[in-house]
Amino acid sequence: MNRIWRRAACGVICAYLVAGLPAHGGQAAAGKHFDLIEWNGGKFIYGADYYPEAWPESQWEKDATMMQEAGINFVRMGEFAWAKMEPREGEFDFAWLDRALKVLNAHGIRAVLGTPTASPPAWLYEKYPDIAAMDANGLRYRYGSRRNYCIHNSDFLAATTRIVTAMAEHFKDHPGVLGWQIDNEVGDPKCFDPISQAAFQAWCQRKYHTLDALNAAWGTIFWGHTYQDWREIPLPWNTLFDTHNPSLALDFDRFQSTSTHAYLDLQVAILRRIAPSKAITHNEMGMYSGVDYYDLSRSLDFVAWDNYPMFQKDYTQYTEVGLGHDLMRGAKDNENFMIMEQEGGLPGWSVFFGRQAPPGLYHVWAYQSVAHGADGVCYFRWRTSRYGTEQYWQGILDQDSYRNSRYWVVAQTGKELQQLAPLLHGSTVISQVALLVSPDSRWAFQIQPGVEDFEYDRQLHDFYDAFRRAGVSMDVVFPPSDLSAYRIVVAPALYVSDQALANKLSAFVKNGGTLILTFRSGVKDEHNVVTDRTLPGPFADIAGVAIHEFDPQINEEQEIVGPGDSRFPARTWSDILDASTAKTVATYGKGYYAGKPAVTENQAGKGWVYYVGTESKSPFFYDRLVSLAATKSLLALNQKIPTGVEVAIRQKSGKKIVFVLNYTGTEQTVPLDQAYRNALTGKTESMDVQIPAYQVKILTE
Ligand code: GLA
Ligand code: GLA
Repeated sequence: MNRIWRRAACGVICAYLVAGLPAHGGQAAAGKHFDLIEWNGGKFIYGADYYPEAWPESQWEKDATMMQEAGINFVRMGEFAWAKMEPREGEFDFAWLDRALKVLNAHGIRAVLGTPTASPPAWLYEKYPDIAAMDANGLRYRYGSRRNYCIHNSDFLAATTRIVTAMAEHFKDHPGVLGWQIDNEVGDPKCFDPISQAAFQAWCQRKYHTLDALNAAWGTIFWGHTYQDWREIPLPWNTLFDTHNPSLALDFDRFQSTSTHAYLDLQVAILRRIAPSKAITHNEMGMYSGVDYYDLSRSLDFVAWDNYPMFQKDYTQYTEVGLGHDLMRGAKDNENFMIMEQEGGLPGWSVFFGRQAPPGLYHVWAYQSVAHGADGVCYFRWRTSRYGTEQYWQGILDQDSYRNSRYWVVAQTGKELQQLAPLLHGSTVISQVALLVSPDSRWAFQIQPGVEDFEYDRQLHDFYDAFRRAGVSMDVVFPPSDLSAYRIVVAPALYVSDQALANKLSAFVKNGGTLILTFRSGVKDEHNVVTDRTLPGPFADIAGVAIHEFDPQINEEQEIVGPGDSRFPARTWSDILDASTAKTVATYGKGYYAGKPAVTENQAGKGWVYYVGTESKSPFFYDRLVSLAATKSLLALNQKIPTGVEVAIRQKSGKKIVFVLNYTGTEQTVPLDQAYRNALTGKTESMDVQIPAYQVKILTE
């Protein structure tokens, strides 16, 4: 290491002497439960994303004082500061970060440091222009923006290794550094350059071993796309008619996800080797589909994610964010997580992306994170930037550092969360219903939606929203997850599945579970090739139905009759069901297949399978289906929760912590199953609990 690096080491030692911080819990061993609150010295993690490099040092002390006053004990820093950490190749300067840590630590604030690879320095692009990714038209990106690098480029991997090693060496024993966030929101872009093509070909060779196996799996006989040499295999770059073999395209999505994971693992290996006492996380993106988060999260001590509720068009539609939380919790087998970027103000880049939210909603959104399993909330960002692309992305403070209404909301929330920390510590979300998300099906639908109006995530929400409207917690599970704890599994549009997954779901049902399947399930095998079995393919037996005809609903003219006498509009698709052993729950109302089954119910072993052959715009349709499934599974519902109010529950030693969240601008009355004690005031609340506009109540037994 060079001169500048050695000089910086002194700053670290000085910081140790003044920090006066309690010892932290250290890193959880692989496979073990990671206790976030213990890791933060018993305090609820409460923080802000902070960019000291962009503000005069004379301002740091004032910032730290104001943070402490707002209850902040945590910051994330550094994830875009590569150019400042390594101003010239191989020459490191962490002294500024040591000084920032010293100021923050003295105010009881500890840090997660971002490895800065999300924004490589200009000099790196100048020297190695090919580290930039190439788009699907064969054009190489150039310097500018961020995260436009190629994860297969060896010069970039070498530069990554160098900066991450230097950072790990420098901070490995720093008591004010709790751990690392690797890069920032990994995933895109995909790189279509020759190096990436060779990497894909090698990945294919490892997967299929022989070209005969690959040609058979992908069905390359179609249009004579048969490969005789691994080097002939293309990438799904832009082509005439924009068409590619869907089997190749799905494998390319898997390859991109695996490569992203490998890039993360390159950093994980360095950090674990040099700094084993520090924890490792990454800021994931909730519903983002570019990466298989279940797979990626295997490498992390805990999941963190970036939560921006203001992207919702209607703030009372809280399920949009709720599902993001639950998917993130599911990515690490239902373990508690933290929010690395919680919305702290109005978002925007060249324009503001919406309208300002009432200050109370920032409070409710922070509690929504906690209610869904967050043991830490870190706001993006401490203060709005004066510079660059994100001048219109508000932090808690605006550029003038005035203690505005958001600041006071953050301060109040922070105070409450520390009061609640002992109660929250060790509590988790426990669900009896799971939603199966299949990354393969999600990708395959992006490749071939089948019908224009099809949206995989909407299929998830149709049922997720209905269960949540009835006050039922849901876990998100992935194909490898254990299903044994659930009474109901909803597996919408399970388009791509292998026999192992089909067997697992079948065993779940035969052991007494209730499974809800929907249209376009069992259509494709694991290679994204259409089955030659009668649909729904591997699920036909347990569902007790056969599909010999279907009708895409491009004009939305069909209607659903049932359950009971109700009528609902149909959209997207109609599977015309032929019920063998299944009982009809709803039929189609119009046209040449009027009267034929649209929804069926079938007993298989000790359990039940619902097959829903169509979709509806009406939420009541899903409320009815959820009621039916809940009755079969003896699951209690609360059908009196007002619209725009969420009831979410964490549990600890068999006792409930109930969060009642009001996203509406009016006071609401919410009937609960019993009278609870208010966890903040200690007073017993009525069973019909009153929640003021944009407020939350936290209740315990
Ligand atoms: C054209 C082509 C066929 C087939 C059909 C359907 O008619 O000649 O090979 O591709 O379109 O796409
Ligand atoms: C993401 C990034 C942040 C910031 C915000 C706002 O969440 O992780 O660095 O850019 O978006 O744009």
